[in-house]
Amino acid sequence: MRVNQEVAVCGNSIILVPYEKHHVPTYHQWMEDEKLRQATASEPLTLNQEYEMQESWRTTCDKLTFIICEGAPFSGLEDELSPVIAGQVDIPDTMTGDVNMFLSPWIPDNEEEMQMVYDESETKTYCTAEIDIMIADPARRGKGLGRAAVATFMRYVLQNLEAILHEYDGFHVNDDYTHRKVVLKEMAAKIYEDNAASIALFKSLGFKQRGGVNYFGEVELVLDDFGEDGFELKGPIGELVGMGYKEVEYDRSMLQDYV
Ligand SMILES: CC(C)(COP(=O)(O)OP(=O)(O)OC[C@H]1O[C@@H](n2cnc3c(N)ncnc32)[C@H](O)[C@@H]1OP(=O)(O)O)[C@@H](O)C(=O)NCCC(=O)NCCS
Repeated sequence: MRVNQEVAVCGNSIILVPYEKHHVPTYHQWMEDEKLRQATASEPLTLNQEYEMQESWRTTCDKLTFIICEGAPFSGLEDELSPVIAGQVDIPDTMTGDVNMFLSPWIPDNEEEMQMVYDESETKTYCTAEIDIMIADPARRGKGLGRAAVATFMRYVLQNLEAILHEYDGFHVNDDYTHRKVVLKEMAAKIYEDNAASIALFKSLGFKQRGGVNYFGEVELVLDDFGEDGFELKGPIGELVGMGYKEVEYDRSMLQDYV
């Protein structure tokens, strides 16, 4: 997605920056680790394929990606309005992992929901978001960075939902339903049942397990009504995202391939 390409999001002990070309070598190095690939259900890619992937995540309308950098001190962030200069803060030493979201049409679970989708099809269409998180370096895990990154990401999504769904809706420009409102129905995470850390992380933020273990050995944790009118980040997640949340400009003008 392009919606976040000029935004850096500061949270408690982390900063999220859009995934750029200069992050790819570090990202590729992370993904050489077989255990990490298994945990994130990723395929091994060559460096060139990783560059193509970075490009495609930027240009497709259904995937929103940030690189997580570990916290303070970040030069230039003292002042409320100072931009984050690309390539100064987000360097291999601070890069910690990624957090991203994939949007797809929502699939009703029962007859009542199917009826609702049918009744509202003239005016609304529903989508669902699947969230993924990775703290790549084992030495940086267990310090609260994963939870801070997910909470900060979710607040960014809520605050920018209209723009995100507008970009996602670009998929539908060729069909007859351009006048329909897109509604984000829920936020979900699919996690291998033996991934205790990830399950604990999402449960601590209010996600609830739906159903049992699927064919692939995953459980689905869901935050219902995320994105519906009136939804608020409450409880632990609300407290966490209140701490130092700030969106600032991500200044890409120093990047070599800046256009
Ligand atoms: C899963 C992952 C993102 C968690 O991030 P993290 O920064 O290590 O987690 P946090 O420090 O924010 O901890 C969040 C919660 O998980 C718990 N936790 C952390 N490590 C744990 C472990 N090894 N076993 C059980 N619980 C664990 C913490 O105690 C905390 O819960 P609590 O508040 O109830 O105590 C990280 O371990 C990771 O990236 N692993 C590899 C990739 C992966 O599995 N991604 C998820 C794919 S769905």
